[in-house]
Amino acid sequence: MGDEEAGLCGQVLNKCVDPRYHQRKSLFYSLFQFLLLLCLLFGILGYSMIRRSVSLRVPLYHPDQKFFQWNSRVDQDNPEPEDEKIKDILKIRVKPIVLAPPEGIQYHQGYPMNYHFLIDHKDVCKTKNPFLVLMTPVAPKNVRARNVIRQTWGNETLVQDKVVVHLFMLGLPGGSDSEEVQQSLNEENLQYQDLIQSNFMDTYRNLTIKTMVIMHWLVTRCPEAAYAVKVDSDMLLSVENLLSMLKRPNIPKTNYLTGSIRRNRPVVRSKTSKWYVSEEMYPKPEYPPYPLGWVYLFSSDLPAKLVEISKSVNYCEMEDAYIGMCMEKLELDLSTPPDPSLFRIDYSNYDRCKFSKFISYNVGSSDELKEFWTDLKRPEPPCPENKPV
Ligand SMILES: *[C@@H]1O[C@H](CO)[C@@H](O)[C@H](O)[C@H]1NC(C)=O
Ligand SMILES: *[C@@H]1O[C@H](CO)[C@@H](O)[C@H](O)[C@H]1NC(C)=O
Repeated sequence: MGDEEAGLCGQVLNKCVDPRYHQRKSLFYSLFQFLLLLCLLFGILGYSMIRRSVSLRVPLYHPDQKFFQWNSRVDQDNPEPEDEKIKDILKIRVKPIVLAPPEGIQYHQGYPMNYHFLIDHKDVCKTKNPFLVLMTPVAPKNVRARNVIRQTWGNETLVQDKVVVHLFMLGLPGGSDSEEVQQSLNEENLQYQDLIQSNFMDTYRNLTIKTMVIMHWLVTRCPEAAYAVKVDSDMLLSVENLLSMLKRPNIPKTNYLTGSIRRNRPVVRSKTSKWYVSEEMYPKPEYPPYPLGWVYLFSSDLPAKLVEISKSVNYCEMEDAYIGMCMEKLELDLSTPPDPSLFRIDYSNYDRCKFSKFISYNVGSSDELKEFWTDLKRPEPPCPENKPV
């Protein structure tokens, strides 16, 4: 028997063990179960704690809160700390806001990558290799202005041995006749090859979009040009004088933005004004320095910087002030032109001698532009003292 038992034990080997083994095993089992339960308990506790803290934090980050209500009560006696506060708040506020993803609008409506070009001349800078690019925002229907610019300063393609390229920027025509307008735009572009069109609605309140789309176009299509000018369609531009200015010593090649610089301009809060801007749109009482939108010149490194920083600069309908805001955020100064009268903005009576020295001034109409241009281009020297003796 003993043998048999031994034999049995021998057969099942290790399984033939002390009966206390079963006791120890069940003890181990309950210890394991207890530890498992403990883990589960801690897990649940930890999870609920994280959840609670998240639900507490979320409202603090909600972008729609009106941070700026108090700004209307800016303390006049003590503007410094108030300014600092605005800066601090701006830091929070200017986090990228993603709007309406279905339409693909990123950051805010002024961010130019939201739009794409419908009419484009992608290779114009590659083939012409310009030193200077002139970009003119124009309303789709304003054929007359375009034609007169084509006959005047827009037709200056080689000045002082420098290649100049001029293009018009427009958005989508609105109104009931938009299809016909689009059709004639396509034909006009076939003829002159100088229209760039993007797919935003071309309206007055969308001018900032237009300006930023110009910047986008320059970054992606014309990075090799040295300088660019944004010049409105109701301006007379002397490309000759502009290039003479650029030849002066000490004209920076980078981070350069000049024109008719505006400083300490109050934000217009009168709702009936064309220039009205709400406190939600821009909370500070004054704009940062900005170049008057009629005409400004910039080095070709700036468009990329402006497009990138615009992600974090809230939309403002005043396109020139918006450029100022972007420059401020980039911590870049605006430059006063070597001679402030070069960029004239106050329209006064035409004087051939005086006007022949300006880079730009605004004209009352396209007819006037043509008239002045023709007169300025007469072969006789414009000023008496320039007459040969
Ligand atoms: C532009 O100038 C060239 C000559 O330099 C002339 O042949 C052409 O007709 C001009 N274009 C327009 C639209 O006036
Ligand atoms: C500006 O353009 C956008 C994009 O095309 C459009 O949705 C919006 O209505 C326009 N805004 C104004 C005020 O015209």
